[in-house]
Amino acid sequence: MRLQVTELSPGGEGLSSWEGKKVRVLGSLPGEEVEAKVLREDREVVAVAEEILTPSPERVSPLCPLFPRCTGCQLQHLNYSSQLEFKRSKVEQALQVRAERPISCGEWEYRNHARLTAERGEIGFVNKYTEEFIRVDRCLLMAPLINDLLSQLQGRCASTMVSIRAGVRTGEYLVQPELPLPSPATGQPFYHEILLGRRFRISSPSFFQPNTEGAETMIRTLREWIGSAGRVMDAYAGVGTFSALLSDLASEVVAVEESPSAERDARFNLRGLSNVRFIRKKVEEVLPVEGLDVLILDPPRQGCSREVLEAIARAPPRKVVYISCNPWTMGRDLRQLKGFTIERVQPIDLFAQTQHIECMALLTR
Ligand SMILES: C[S@@+](CC[C@H](N)C(=O)[O-])C[C@H]1O[C@@H](n2cnc3c(N)ncnc32)[C@H](O)[C@@H]1O
Repeated sequence: MRLQVTELSPGGEGLSSWEGKKVRVLGSLPGEEVEAKVLREDREVVAVAEEILTPSPERVSPLCPLFPRCTGCQLQHLNYSSQLEFKRSKVEQALQVRAERPISCGEWEYRNHARLTAERGEIGFVNKYTEEFIRVDRCLLMAPLINDLLSQLQGRCASTMVSIRAGVRTGEYLVQPELPLPSPATGQPFYHEILLGRRFRISSPSFFQPNTEGAETMIRTLREWIGSAGRVMDAYAGVGTFSALLSDLASEVVAVEESPSAERDARFNLRGLSNVRFIRKKVEEVLPVEGLDVLILDPPRQGCSREVLEAIARAPPRKVVYISCNPWTMGRDLRQLKGFTIERVQPIDLFAQTQHIECMALLTR
């Protein structure tokens, strides 16, 4: 079908219409006329651009031969400067406030974590619209060590999924699950990564920011925004990265995290820091806390629960730094935090070539 693309959706697909239905056109840009093939049709149509008849001036040639078929990247065909503008305006739409231009943290080879699917020994990704399995021999977003391991495991993976994580600063890695192979070694319980000169242990089930340079940019931004602080709470603390790297700025840091695996890592990572205390509980069970200077909130994609937002209203800290990889739930939560002024909104591009964006906001009272 021949389609005119009118806009770019927040998910990074070009939008068009056909016989009264909305069409999402993968790999297309606003202003383009494209010849597209239908991938799926129900209330909406999903299609992929196969021929670009009138290219947008913002178009670049995608570097990966699997783009956009693997559906892991949505924006490889958009020049990087325009990707950053797209993400800035998406954050502004979701938060309904002005945002800075996103800070870039690498355009390629920036990911330290790959979650892959395997079929009959082959490793790849699954097209999210058609569920077609696509063998991947090299992913241009992954750190070189991950691609090395992927090529060693390719065709030999006796599992239906595999997770490969790399310490890009340490050269250590982790492959899960353990595979019955003489090499490479797999099934490591943890690996280490270095952030701003400090070494962190990360176990297989524990969360860690997927872009190492990006994690450092987030911590530098946090340090600048917090300045010198009294009592800081690091809510949703993971393996303790923020707590450890902010402890010199605060009189006391309390890290709150519910995952037992992250707790074990954090207790190891925070050893020797006498002003940092770790609590393994849900944030809902710990808040409200009176007399906090700074509350850092870095919840998962679904955002904070109503109990957390209500508890903050009962004992509001002086500053809140809200961090999220989902601008929509972040916008929803910020609108609930009454009595604060949003001073800064800084998107951080941890996910170049994709539609995803990390975002930090500083709120003061
Ligand atoms: C986006 S990660 C942030 C981790 C950490 N701040 C970092 O940058 O590495 C969110 C973390 O919140 C934890 N978590 C999710 N819901 C929680 C809750 N209700 N209470 C406490 N921790 C929670 C998860 O286990 C995960 O480690």
